[in-house]
Amino acid sequence: MPGTDYEMLIKQADSLVRGVPHFYANLANVSALIYSALGNVNWAGFYLLEGDRLILGPFQGNVACVEIPVGKGVCGTAVSENAPKLVPDVHLFPGHIACDSASRSEIVVPVRKNGKVIAVLDIDSPELSRFTQADKEGLEKLVSVLEELIFCK
Ligand code: SME
Repeated sequence: MPGTDYEMLIKQADSLVRGVPHFYANLANVSALIYSALGNVNWAGFYLLEGDRLILGPFQGNVACVEIPVGKGVCGTAVSENAPKLVPDVHLFPGHIACDSASRSEIVVPVRKNGKVIAVLDIDSPELSRFTQADKEGLEKLVSVLEELIFCK
């Protein structure tokens, strides 16, 4: 399968949310856009940091765990390390939180405001090693646009 055209995805996300002053609506639409644009993913969405916990935000996919403590799972580790996590095999990630047993690989990109993590973008796939370095770079660029257009307020 050819890789995702992130340049196009970012343009679509930009035109979807630019000038729209509704935080949750924008996150919901971006989740839907990512879910349909990336092939072979079974979950795509946001967790929002509240104190020392990530709380489930808008997403596409199966029902998911509502709270993730910072430092736990792939998402909580991305927050405590303030770094993206590309996990080729979730079964080999210590403390991975399995919301959907079909998930085999995962990528988590932190969303920052003034350098501090305030949320994460989380995407799961039923395919081993689904996410590449190109996905990581593309999603980091996408998140930097979302930081400007959605999370800057
Ligand atoms: N697998 C994540 C939990 C969230 S679900 O994938 C939607 C984790 O380990 O943090």
